[in-house]
Amino acid sequence: MEMNTGDIICKVEEFVKSSLRNHDGGHDWWHIDRVRRLALKLQEAEGCGDRLVIELSALLHDIDDMKFTERDDVNTGNKIRSLLDGLGICSHDTEKVVEINRKISFSSGKDDGVPSDEFRIVQDADRLDAIGAIGIARAFNYGGFLNNNLYDPAGKNPSTIGHFYDKLLKLKNLMNTDTAKRIADERHKFLELFLNEFYKEWNRPDL
Ligand code: ADP
Ligand code: NI
Repeated sequence: MEMNTGDIICKVEEFVKSSLRNHDGGHDWWHIDRVRRLALKLQEAEGCGDRLVIELSALLHDIDDMKFTERDDVNTGNKIRSLLDGLGICSHDTEKVVEINRKISFSSGKDDGVPSDEFRIVQDADRLDAIGAIGIARAFNYGGFLNNNLYDPAGKNPSTIGHFYDKLLKLKNLMNTDTAKRIADERHKFLELFLNEFYKEWNRPDL
C-alpha cells in the first residue's frame, strides 16, 4: 500500500499523541505541534533542509526523552525505526530522524560531527519554544511540576526565576540559523521585560 505524505504525517501524529499522554503541560502535544510549525517556517525562510525529514523529526523529537522513558529504552531509536519503516520511509531518512532525536535529547551533549541542516532547524525550533511568553508559561508549569519556588531571592533553592539564568536567557546565543536568531531576539526581550516587571512587583509592591 502506497501512502502519501499527508497519510504518513497523520499516522506519526497519532503515534506521538498516544505516547505523550502522560507528559506535563510543557511537553504535551501542543509543544510538539508548535515546534513542528516553527521548524517548517524556519525551513521556508532558510531554504535548506528536507521538509519531510524536518516535519518527522520535529514530531518525534521528544520520543524517548530521558525524563519520560525507562532507562533501557532511551535513545536506541528503535521505536522510531519501527514506526517509520512501517510507513515506508526510506532508511536514509529514518536514520536522519533517529539521529536528530538522539542529539536533541542530549541537547547539552558533546558535538559529534557536522550537524545536518534538519537538526539545526529542529533544534532552533525546540529552543525558540522555551523562550518568549510561551517559554515563560512552560517554565512556570515545569517548575510547579518539580515543586520549585517561583523565586528565591537568596538564590539557594531551585526556582523558576533561577531557571531563566541557568538556561532561558542563554538560548538566544545558541541559535543556529539567522531566522531563529531574529525570532530569539524578540522573545529574549520579552523575557527581560517579564523579569523587570517581576522584580518590580516583588520589591516594591506598594508603588
Ligand atoms: P526541551 O523540551 O527543549 O528538551 P527541557 O526538557 O529541558 O527542554 O525542558 C522543557 C521545558 O521545561 C522548557 O520550557 C524548559 O525551560 C522548562 N524547564 C526545564 N527545567 C526547568 C526547571 N528546572 N525549572 C523550570 N522550567 C524548566
Ligand atoms: Ni521539546
